[in-house]
Amino acid sequence: MERTLILVKPDGVKRNLVGEVLSRVEAKGYTIAALKMMQADRALLVRHYAEHEGKPFFEPLVEFMMSGPIVALVAEGNRVIEGFRKLAGTTDPTTAEPGTIRGDLARDQGTKVVQNIVHGSDSVESATREISIFFPEL
Ligand code: RTP
Ligand code: MG
Repeated sequence: MERTLILVKPDGVKRNLVGEVLSRVEAKGYTIAALKMMQADRALLVRHYAEHEGKPFFEPLVEFMMSGPIVALVAEGNRVIEGFRKLAGTTDPTTAEPGTIRGDLARDQGTKVVQNIVHGSDSVESATREISIFFPEL
């Protein structure tokens, strides 16, 4: 059974959208296999976002992700990686399709980094790597 790492980012938690995100994941038919609220520290985020190190938005991204609590979860189901990316919508919330999490619930806030409510792993390799960072106990 395929698994993916989903994060409700600090903007989603601050706006009380944790339930909305979980509800969309569950309504689609995926199973929540693990769930926790946490305050991410820099070391954890640098590991998680290693692919973006050196990009102009890297430091603002890490600062944003440390700006408040996040909710990390592992969702499970056939093709859940691709399925959750479709539920989330594209990175830029202004142009993300209505009907998606980002398209329905987020917009450009004029911040240094795009704030878009959720993260979802983008491949089997990323999912395995990211789940081991956020859920080393699994
Ligand atoms: P995610 O990893 O969060 O699921 O999002 P993604 O695959 O759609 O986007 P990715 O390219 O992996 O970027 C990770 C996060 O960094 C922020 N970002 N800001 N130009 C920008 O200001 C910019 N580009 C990326 C977003 O928060 C994005 O989700
Ligand atoms: Mg990504």
